[in-house]
Amino acid sequence: MNDSSSDVVLDDDALVLDWQHLLTDVDESGIATITINRPKALNALNSEVLEELNDALVEAAMSDDVKVIIITGAGDKSFVAGADIGEMADMTPVEARDHALTGQGVFANIESCPKPVIAMINGFALGGGLELAMACHIRVACEGAKLGLPETGLALIPGFGGTQRLMRIVGTGVAREWILTADMFDASEAHRVGLVNRLVPADELLEATMKLAKTLCKRGPVAMETALDCIRRGLEGGQTQGENTEADAFGILFTSEDSREGMHAFLEKRKPAYKGC
Ligand code: CAA
Repeated sequence: MNDSSSDVVLDDDALVLDWQHLLTDVDESGIATITINRPKALNALNSEVLEELNDALVEAAMSDDVKVIIITGAGDKSFVAGADIGEMADMTPVEARDHALTGQGVFANIESCPKPVIAMINGFALGGGLELAMACHIRVACEGAKLGLPETGLALIPGFGGTQRLMRIVGTGVAREWILTADMFDASEAHRVGLVNRLVPADELLEATMKLAKTLCKRGPVAMETALDCIRRGLEGGQTQGENTEADAFGILFTSEDSREGMHAFLEKRKPAYKGC
């Protein structure tokens, strides 16, 4: 994914990306919001959206102004209703495989983002939409949202990482049920099985997600990046290898100014002031 489908506009003092299918915003506390903006298609992911999403993520990950990233969908009906079925309907097998690899790559970038990424699930999170949410580090959903992997109903399988991530989050029993039935599940059920971290009324979704994001903004950024990295590596290897990685990372963190600041602030009974180094 090297080329951006977005138009590049030169502002007076900054490079501004003019998205076709996204809305992006960074607030004063360092919370970036990336909104997938195709409400007429329930924010379905076509190739252009995937490319822009990747570009926006890279931009937010690299920006000194951003501490936490929220991904959501435009409108009040849908987070993302899946990969764009219209775009996929006439793909050749080779094109379909490439499409799956592209989606997997974008979502792998989300999962390995050094800054916390929160999925704010404001409606349907289906197929590629749920796969996107599962690549995020934390999921907050509104009551009434519907989640599922409907691909087998189309005689397909989840292709953007869903067969792998769902079982790692909820276990193989629930994952097999969700994938094989292709059913849509209420957000309350997704919360019960641990797929959704926080479940809130629809009119409190934004506030609850921002509150969570603001909490993360107060934590040591290098420590959060390190913790996310340890968790990801631990998922790929075994317990012993994971604990070795953890011990190494724990030691390396003692080279950071922030770790000294965090411990001294506690001992001096004051709030820490982290610099991100
Ligand atoms: N792709 C393309 N268009 C989609 C879409 C999708 N995944 N989901 C919804 N849309 C479009 C509809 O075609 C419709 O467009 P028109 O107005 O032009 O007809 C518009 O969005 C509104 O949708 P509905 O009229 O269907 O709305 P509804 O409220 O009646 O139903 C829904 C909502 C249950 C979510 C239904 O739209 C639906 O079932 N969508 C498809 C969900 C799905 O199967 N997702 C998995 C896709 S495959 C995938 O993701 C593979 C992968 O892992 C890579």
